[in-house]
Amino acid sequence: MTPRDNQTIAAILGRRSIRKFTSDPVPGDIKRILLECAFAAPSAHGRRPCEFIVIEDRAVLDDLAEAHDSGKMLRQSPLAIAVCAQKEGYPEGDRAWVEDCAAAMENILIAARALGLEGVWLKVMDRHPRNEKIRPVLAVPPSVEVVAIAALGKGAEEKTPHEGLDEKKIHSNRW
Ligand SMILES: Cc1cc2nc3c(=O)[nH]c(=O)nc-3n(C[C@H](O)[C@H](O)[C@H](O)COP(=O)(O)O)c2cc1C
Repeated sequence: MTPRDNQTIAAILGRRSIRKFTSDPVPGDIKRILLECAFAAPSAHGRRPCEFIVIEDRAVLDDLAEAHDSGKMLRQSPLAIAVCAQKEGYPEGDRAWVEDCAAAMENILIAARALGLEGVWLKVMDRHPRNEKIRPVLAVPPSVEVVAIAALGKGAEEKTPHEGLDEKKIHSNRW
């Protein structure tokens, strides 16, 4: 048994961006555990600004696919989770909500992989005109930023797991 055989490590290394899905629905208990994993992510000062929109309505998924210029796979995926930041009351000038939502998104993708699903991270915030097209589809209020959307489902393509590290990018004690 090596560290690589550990199931958590296998899920982290095995997670790839999968952009083809079967139409199999995602069971309710799996959806809930994905969200529980998202809520379990660390957040700066424990402020927990992340909120999630669970999208399964085919019409909404299709509208998102139309609005997101690299989101065609949302026409196939049975599920999407929009990872959003509620910025109301968040300290002015502090953008740690971006990191908080990124941590939540990564937890969703790794948990999905661990449970036999696949997914892909679709950026929304700071991308124009994508962001402006997606916000009305999801009906988010002005104080809410849609950081990214995870397209999720049973994968219909396979990719090799990640392996190895880039020695040039590892520094010892000082840069
Ligand atoms: C911040 C961020 C934004 C991304 N946005 C998109 C996107 O809009 N569309 C897409 O197809 N993939 C997107 N991806 C997925 C990357 O293209 C993918 O992670 C990268 O090519 C590496 O492949 P891998 O995930 O299989 O390791 C995004 C990933 C990150 C971390």
